[in-house]
Order: sequence, then C-alpha cells, then structure tokens
Amino acid sequence: MTEKIYIFDTTLRDGEQSPGASMNLDEKLQIAEVLDLMKVDIIEAGFPIASNGDFEAVREVSKNVKNSTIAGLARASLKDIDRAWDAVKHSRSPRIHTFIATSPLHMKYKLKKTEDEVLEAIKKTVSHARNLCDNIEWSCEDGGRSELNFLYKCIDLAINCGASTINIPDTVGYTLPEEFGKIFRNVKNNVVNIDKAILSTHTHNDLGLATANNVAAIKEGARQVECTINGMGERAGNSSLEEIVMTLKVKKDLMPYHTDIKTESIMKASRLVSSITGFPVQPNKAIVGANAFAHEAGIHQDGMLKHSGTYEIMTPESVGLNKSSLVLGKHSGKHAFSEKLKELGYEPGDNALMELFGRFKDLADKKKEIFEEDLIALAEDRSASYDEHVKFVSLEVNAGSVEKPEARLKIDMNNESKSIKINGNGPVDATFNAIKKLTETDFKLKLYQVNAITAGTDAQGEVTVRLEDDDLTSQAKGSDPDIIVASAKAYINALNRLIFKKSKSIKENSSNLQIRGV
Ligand code: KIV
Ligand code: ZN
Repeated sequence: MTEKIYIFDTTLRDGEQSPGASMNLDEKLQIAEVLDLMKVDIIEAGFPIASNGDFEAVREVSKNVKNSTIAGLARASLKDIDRAWDAVKHSRSPRIHTFIATSPLHMKYKLKKTEDEVLEAIKKTVSHARNLCDNIEWSCEDGGRSELNFLYKCIDLAINCGASTINIPDTVGYTLPEEFGKIFRNVKNNVVNIDKAILSTHTHNDLGLATANNVAAIKEGARQVECTINGMGERAGNSSLEEIVMTLKVKKDLMPYHTDIKTESIMKASRLVSSITGFPVQPNKAIVGANAFAHEAGIHQDGMLKHSGTYEIMTPESVGLNKSSLVLGKHSGKHAFSEKLKELGYEPGDNALMELFGRFKDLADKKKEIFEEDLIALAEDRSASYDEHVKFVSLEVNAGSVEKPEARLKIDMNNESKSIKINGNGPVDATFNAIKKLTETDFKLKLYQVNAITAGTDAQGEVTVRLEDDDLTSQAKGSDPDIIVASAKAYINALNRLIFKKSKSIKENSSNLQIRGV
C-alpha cells in the first residue's frame, strides 16, 4: 500500500472568499454532503468569527456531516478560537485551524508585531486551542515568503504547544515549485519535532502554479493537501481538488501515493459548486472543463477511434463524466426524469421537481433531442433562482434591421402580475430595459455571456449574467432554445440572487453590530 495523502477541502472557507461567491446555509450543507460522500478527509466549513451566518454554517455542517473531520478557521486570538470551537465541537471529529502571519512584510505592516510577539501569540493561542480540542492545525500565513530560521522556531513551538498538523501556505501564490518544495525539505530537515505532526500544503494560483506547487510540496514531505473544488478561492483561487487528486492517480509511477477520494464524484461536485456560486467553469479547465475530454482535430479523433490512450491520459468515466448521450424524449415520464437528474447530481424537492418536469416537457416540445447537458442547464436554471422574488412569465421581441427593437415582457413580482412594452438598442437591451423598469432596479451589468449547450441550430442557448451593486455581485444562468428568453431568465435569476444577498448582508451587518455591542 502506498502512503496516503490527506485531502483538506476549503471550498466552503477559502473558496467562499472568491469575490461574489457567498453561499447560504442550505447550499453549504449540500456541498458538504457531496464532499463527505466523495470521502474528503477534512472539510474546512468556514471562519466562525467572521459573521453569525458563518458560525451557523460551520455548526450545522459539523452536526450533519457523517465521516469527514470538520475544521473551523480562527486567527491567533482567544475569542476567535473559542468561537471556532463552539461551532465545530458538534462534529464527530472536530478540528480547530488557527493561523498567524510569519513573513517580515505581514508581521511589520499587518500585525505590527515583532518576531518575539508572534512567537508569544503562537504559544498562547495554540495551547489554548489544544485545551479545547485534541485536533489542532496551525498555519504560518504567507509561509512562502517567511524567513526559514524564524519559520523553524514557529513550527517547533506550535508542535510543542499541541498542533498535530502544520500547514505552510503560499498565501499570495508567489513561489515557484522548486522554491516551495525546498521550504518543505528544509522544514523536514531542520525542525527537530517535525515527525510529531503532519505537514500540509496550501497554495494559491496567482501565477497559475498552485497545483504544481502542491505537487512539489508532496514530493518533499507534505502529506495533507489543501484545495478547493474548481479551484475557487481568494483572488486567482486555490489549487483545485480535482487537479491534485487526478495528478496523484494518473502519475503513480513518479508519485507513489494515494488518496481516498472517490474520483467518480468529481464532476458532480464541480457542477454543484458552479451552479451554487454562479461561477462558470472555463471550457478548457483541467479535468472538469467542458472541453477536457473533447477531441477536435481530425488526427486526434482518428487516434482516439483506434485507441483512446493515444490522446487521453485518464478516462472521462474516472471523473464521473459520461459521454454526451441522448437521454430523454417528450414521452419520458417523471420517474425516469427524476432518476436521470439524480444521476447528474440534482435532487430537487417535490415542488421543484414538478416545476422542472413541466419545463422539461416544454423543452421536449421545442427540441427533438434532449441531452444530459440540456437537463443540467434546466436544473441549474432552477437552482439559480432559489429565491424567486421576481418570476419570468413571457417575452415577445421584435428585432431585425428595420424597426427599433422592442420587448414585451410579463413577470410576476411578489405574486403581482406586471407587464411592459419598451425599446432598446437591440433585443437583449430592450429585454433588460423591460426588466429594470418593471422591477425598478438598475444594477450594473458586469458580464453577459452566451453559449450553445449542445450542437445544432435547435440547441439551447445558455446565458450567464453577472450583476453588481456596491460591494455585492451575483451571477446566474438561464437557458432556453431562444437566446433572448434565456437572457431574460438569466438576468432575472441574477436579480433574485442579488436581492437575496442584499437582504442577507443587511441582516448580517446588523447582527455583527450586535456582537460588537454597538
Ligand atoms: O492562504 C492562506 O494563507 C490561508 C490561511 C488562512 C491558511 O488561507
Ligand atoms: Zn488561502
């Protein structure tokens, strides 16, 4: 048996720090369940001191998840650590993850602390955490830019105070693989008590080197890898779970390690995270992008037909991707429909299922062949509009090169029917003007993107819309064989999301003020 690499998923914490990617409690529970089923060893469920919402999410994930260890993040402060413990203590296997910055730049400008003061803080906080919980992870933030001799002292002290996992993050995604690997080699060779802890690696993708850096760290002794689904995370994101897990699986010849991850669940997790956060996966993204297993060039297709190993280093099935296949038609029943959705990773409740089934029948009337991609688009369209303040009813558009484009839109808004006729510079502009006028909103449109879901002129169009208001952004998709209708649905889904986020942020801000006693 090869040595095991522990997989620590931080989609719910570092992943949620992606600008515009906040998730509600129910969504976090859904993601945690999928991570648990795919056998992630440790799920970092959030940063409990950050807000009441974060605290509640970590507590509920701790209560619900059956197998994975649940970690809660805490700064080097007793209050943070107590709050993290209160949230994770409900887990079968709780962990407190506490951190402090150790690089000269962070200590001087951010913490305004000397090396001795940082050492003092480590002693006080790690010992305190260890008195509460017997599974403590300690991280040296900005470890990639820290001075090695100081890092050795910090790590030695954290282990002596009770940390059993030592995580070295490349917080700003600055190091090269050989540079990052060398830090791990040096730590292994220079910290006397290092064998009492598991070394962990945490990388960011600012230079596109996050996964390469994790690979280098594993080669030099890291046995826990921190990562996120789809590489979500602060700024350019973290190393992605699917990349590191599949690298370990495919490159067994040079990397004699294994993980316990059920790789067949990777696509399901990727789709779920993308649909919940509204962050599309780029088509050429390694492992989970739509083109990751597509072969375009004739010479490649010819090779594939002769032997799939010619151009594929892993099978699509190994990551849970079934070949695009015709799945259902207009005569399919509700049972077959719900079974197929389940297989694709969607389990809507009874009401949502009925609504989706109705939409599927409408689609099957318009489009002869229904592919898996169509069903995913349908399900994501529904899951994006989880708080339907505004509902799309109908749209008619006049467009072309002669008359000024005009949209006639009907919506339901808080159960009241509303309609309008309005012009615009093009059919999409007229449609968005109609929505803005009827809902009396004027959010900034930050992204408008159209994709064809499958091949053929009767393919559904999938539109992604991102809206912004002050600090908040929301992104959602809409799909329909008519791309102007898909655009209206995507805009309305994003609008509902933004309204929900605005109300949540108002509630959270007022409860945070209560915490501070203001
Ligand atoms: O990137 C980082 O340094 C972190 C720590 C909190 C582990 O996310
Ligand atoms: Zn990070």
